[in-house]
Amino acid sequence: MTQLTEILVASHNAGKIAEIRDLFEPLGVSVTSAAELDLAEPEETGDTFEANAATKALAAAKASGKIALSDDSGLVVDALDGAPGVYTADWATLPDGARDFAVAMQKVEDALQARGVTDESRRTGRFVSVLCLATPEGETSFYRGEADGVLVWPPRGTSGFGYDPVFRPDGHDRTFGEMTAEEKHGWRPGQATALSHRARAFKLFAEQCLGVAAT
Ligand code: IMP
Repeated sequence: MTQLTEILVASHNAGKIAEIRDLFEPLGVSVTSAAELDLAEPEETGDTFEANAATKALAAAKASGKIALSDDSGLVVDALDGAPGVYTADWATLPDGARDFAVAMQKVEDALQARGVTDESRRTGRFVSVLCLATPEGETSFYRGEADGVLVWPPRGTSGFGYDPVFRPDGHDRTFGEMTAEEKHGWRPGQATALSHRARAFKLFAEQCLGVAAT
C-alpha cells in the first residue's frame, strides 16, 4: 500500500485539477499539476479514454521522474452514437485554439435537434472518467467511473466546468452546474457511494491504492 503525501496530477485543465485537489484534500495528499510544473501537454491521439489517460500520465511521470495521476474524461450521448466521447474537449475548440464550452454545449444540442431528439427519455448519456496512475518506469493502473444522466436544454447553473450546466445526473433534479463541488462529488473518504464520474473513479483509486476503506 502506497503512503502518499503528494502527487503530480497530469492535467492542464483548471476545472479537473480543482476537483482532483478537492478529492485528495481530506486524505492529506497535496496536489501539484503538470500545468504548474510547465510540463508539455501531450497530444491525445487514442480512441479510448484509457489510451488517452495513459498518454497523459506516462508523459508527466517520465518528464518529472514522479508518480503521476491523469484523468481522461468526456460526455457520451446515446442518441449521438456515443459522441462527443473522447472528442469532448475538441468539440469546444475554436479555430484560434481557444475553448468555449457554451459553443460546445450548443453543438451537442444542435446535433440532438438535427436527429429530432427532443423527448427527455431519449436524451440519455453519461460522463466517463478514467484515472491512470503511472510510474516513471512505465507501469500503469486504471480506475474508471461513470455517471448516468440526461442532457437538458437550456444550460442551467454556473458551478463546475465544461458541460456541467447541461448534465442532470439520474436521481437528481439539478444539473451538475447547479450543484456545489461537494454535492457533485457526492463522496467523502469512507463513504460507500459517490455521484460524479470523477468521484466514482477516485473512490476506486482511493480504495485500491491508498487503502481507504468504504464503510
Ligand atoms: P480531456 O479529458 O482533457 O480530453 O477533456 C475532457 C473534457 O470533457 C473536458 O474538457 C470537459 O469539457 C469535459 N468534462 C470532463 N469531465 C467533466 C465534468 O466533470 N464536467 C463537465 N465537463 C466535463
